[in-house]
Amino acid sequence: MTCIEDLRQLAARKVPRAFFDYVEAGSYAEETLRANRTDFERIKFNQRVLVDASNRDLSTTMIGEPVKLPFALAPVGLCGMQHGDGEILACRAAHKAGIPFCLSTMSICSIEDVAGAVEKPFWFQIYVMKDRGFTQSLIERAIAARCSALVLTVDLQVLGQRHCDIRNGMSVPPELKLKNLLDIMTKPAWAMSVLRGKRMNFGNLAGYVPDQGNINSLSYWIANQFDPSLTWKDVEWIKSIWPGKLILKGIFNLEDAKIAAQTGAEALVVSNHGGRQLDGASSAISILPRITDAVGSNIEIMFDSGIRSGQDVMRALALGARSCFIGRAYVYGLGAGGRKGVLRAIDILRRELDVTMALTGVSRVQDIDRRVLADSHLYS
Ligand code: FNR
Ligand code: LAC
Repeated sequence: MTCIEDLRQLAARKVPRAFFDYVEAGSYAEETLRANRTDFERIKFNQRVLVDASNRDLSTTMIGEPVKLPFALAPVGLCGMQHGDGEILACRAAHKAGIPFCLSTMSICSIEDVAGAVEKPFWFQIYVMKDRGFTQSLIERAIAARCSALVLTVDLQVLGQRHCDIRNGMSVPPELKLKNLLDIMTKPAWAMSVLRGKRMNFGNLAGYVPDQGNINSLSYWIANQFDPSLTWKDVEWIKSIWPGKLILKGIFNLEDAKIAAQTGAEALVVSNHGGRQLDGASSAISILPRITDAVGSNIEIMFDSGIRSGQDVMRALALGARSCFIGRAYVYGLGAGGRKGVLRAIDILRRELDVTMALTGVSRVQDIDRRVLADSHLYS
């Protein structure tokens, strides 16, 4: 396992097709998904030599929390369908590596399952539902579980369609149709781990079934329960009921970034949801420098969408992000090898970042800036 692509290929062999495709997918024609990658690859480094690179320090802080590496594991729905108890295993790996783990609202293991299985606090990501009482109860559960930050995701009140999920009839637990059964029979280790896991449904939503419909499908929950009338006023409401640190995830536009900086949130995440929402939007990395230039001194800026290597983490930091969220890159590790696979993914990113720092003449993550990029004027 030398790189994230190796983990991806192993996950493709071990995880049933419908769940692997769910991870891989972008929305619609996947133009934005592809742009996220091609624009990263266009950003080139500036090699420096004969700079003392013997002591490198990759530690920094995220919303004031000390972290050993400048990234967190992003909130990802259905991790428990990549590997049994996937959320618990990923959280344990993150804690071992000294980085934050963010649990998704749409997780398989619930907030309480994870809190009961790990030693340290984790972050919780919230999607706002039409039923504000239920939304509030999720926040209260995150408070009771001592979550150390709330990540409010603002870019998925309406779902960008992913064609493969419709074609595959993706649901949790998987529907036991012949096609799925044949696929699962070729993945016995996956089946054992999921059968032994705590749950096979949306753990945080269990028991909350106010409506008829296919409650096993993600698209059902989003179309019927997520609130498309969400506005900045609701951000104030969330702030009034969540006493801890707040991160706004899914900011992509300069005007929105300026408003976000006024809300009193600790951080914003520049993101296009990994190319899974507005197809035809620019890559997230091409938007980042405009936002860091405009509001970077007013609010902490994090970044995700398209990171597949430590070099990509370095590029995002060079363009002004303080830290990153890692999405698919860690989920491939989870599918490939559970907790060990996630640790492997984190270690791959760490080593790549470390060597890239050495070869660009930077010793401290906190000193990374545009000088590490070739033609850095192109990005300002
Ligand atoms: C996500 N993402 C996501 N975000 C969120 O706030 N809540 C969620 O439940 C999910 N679920 C989810 C599932 C899967 C399979 C993926 C790939 C992504 C988005 C995620 O947090 C992050 O923004 C992207 O993954 C970043 O893009 P990359 O790194 O995957 O390219
Ligand atoms: C996704 C949602 C759950 O991207 O955020 O699939």
